[in-house]
Amino acid sequence: MQIFLDTAVLDEIRQAAEWGVLDGVTTNPTLAARAGRAFKENILAISEIIGDRGTVSAETVSTDVEGMIEEARLVTSWAPNIVAKIPCTPNGLAATRKLAEEGIRVNMTLVFNATQGLLAMKAGAYYVSPFIGRLDDAGQNGMELIEQLVHIKHTYGFETQVLAASIRHPMHVVQAAMLGADIATMPFKVLQQIMKHPLTDIGLQRFLEDWASIPEEMRPF
Ligand code: E4P
Repeated sequence: MQIFLDTAVLDEIRQAAEWGVLDGVTTNPTLAARAGRAFKENILAISEIIGDRGTVSAETVSTDVEGMIEEARLVTSWAPNIVAKIPCTPNGLAATRKLAEEGIRVNMTLVFNATQGLLAMKAGAYYVSPFIGRLDDAGQNGMELIEQLVHIKHTYGFETQVLAASIRHPMHVVQAAMLGADIATMPFKVLQQIMKHPLTDIGLQRFLEDWASIPEEMRPF
């Protein structure tokens, strides 16, 4: 499973890239607003960090088909690793089909049920983004949607990648991986959480103390 960061903060992206665990980045207008920088400049800076290790999703904000297509063409023209993120509305589906025919990769976002996901795959979306945390927040089971979409994808042989989005905690990442999601995109805080375990720290501390108890002339370093 690929690991994406769901952020527009460059320091977080740089740090994750240095750890060698980052396969891509997703952004959205809320995250872009928080970044406090010009949109294009920020997306290009993210795109440069990601390079050929993966993709960067940049979201369109028009709600009509032509506007979505125009914005998608624009953002994807900035760099080869940029994917246009388009909401799963009837217009979004129409735009995605057209863009897919042009070879432009679309991340179909704001997907909340299996029929939306199926239609996104049929339209030729490169990624389909079910929002599991927001479904959980609404009293539904977000993971069920991941399971359904992975099943639909494999049943019909769609190439669309299932991108588990709106991840809130490490168990979401584990469950998405167990269910066969292609990608999980997560906030930086969750990425930090999944890399750590208190027993690793305690174990390391003990190993270092025991190592230090070996006389120096008996150790190679
Ligand atoms: C995904 O691409 C979205 O940007 C994101 O995962 C939304 O997450 P949220 O529900 O935490 O805002």
